[in-house]
Amino acid sequence: MTNIKYINTSTRVQDYDSNLEYDYRKYWKDREYENQSERNVISKLLKNDYSFIDIGGGYGRLTDLYQDKYKYSILFDYSLSNLKKAENKEDVFKVCGDIYNMPFKDGTISSGMLVRVLHHIENPEKAISEISRVISDSFILEFANKNHILSRVKHFKDRDFKKQDIYKIPHRNDSQGFMDDQIFLNFSPSYIFSTLEKNNFLVKKTISASNFRHKYFKKLFSVKSLVFLDNTFKLFFSKIYFGPSIFLLLEKKNKNVKKEYSIEDILRCPKCIEDIKNGKCVKCKKNYLEDGIYNFK
Ligand SMILES: C[S@@+](CC[C@H](N)C(=O)[O-])C[C@H]1O[C@@H](n2cnc3c(N)ncnc32)[C@H](O)[C@@H]1O
Repeated sequence: MTNIKYINTSTRVQDYDSNLEYDYRKYWKDREYENQSERNVISKLLKNDYSFIDIGGGYGRLTDLYQDKYKYSILFDYSLSNLKKAENKEDVFKVCGDIYNMPFKDGTISSGMLVRVLHHIENPEKAISEISRVISDSFILEFANKNHILSRVKHFKDRDFKKQDIYKIPHRNDSQGFMDDQIFLNFSPSYIFSTLEKNNFLVKKTISASNFRHKYFKKLFSVKSLVFLDNTFKLFFSKIYFGPSIFLLLEKKNKNVKKEYSIEDILRCPKCIEDIKNGKCVKCKKNYLEDGIYNFK
């Protein structure tokens, strides 16, 4: 478990650096099906482009999927310890910072993704508007789906379908989202779609993933068969938001044309909003480059 940290008086983040004994890599040890299912979806949605940012990319679980498709990529995360665990790779820059105030200039990164992060974000409007500010072309956004099929069945069975109001968000203090000592929120698709619309994103594709994550399916079928079933029924599952994890391929409404920026062309000091040269803010002179990681935390 990790703790919550206040980054200002109103916004809190899930700080994976608060407990250095917690190793997120272990979470994936028994989740090969979910891992494969997500990788399968992401591979279908990635396109070749100039630059790419994996926001909340953690220790780089998914880096190998995108690193060769872009001139360079950025592994961006709030946790310095997660970034330190990530393998150093050519043309993958590590940047530590906060999604609510990213150290990048407007529209300077072509594409990116946010996978398994939104459930830690208590102000999704603010985070999505920041993503829209820095991305120029396309984006893959994954969110934990509050209306997945098992949740609908459960609410129907408990006859609290209306009381729980599962189509509204945020939804606190119930099994579908908690925010006391951990920020862990599931979102309804309609809430996500309207937030994206307000932030100049068009939804081009919707794919439901990890549809068979229930332990009974995992006991009955191999990982390969489950991923095959995911693929076979992809259209149907996606249409009805069947699974616990929904991936969206987004496109910016007004695309920027210029793309070819170097890493220091795109960085900016999050306090002074000024250029970074050789790792330092040109105004306040703070050095942000430590052991190969741009650390803005
Ligand atoms: C569940 S992990 C997912 C990591 C990776 N995307 C993956 O799928 O393997 C969530 C990550 O989001 C990061 N995170 C949480 N809040 C953040 C914030 N406000 N800004 C940037 N990263 C954040 C955490 O540090 C953590 O590495």
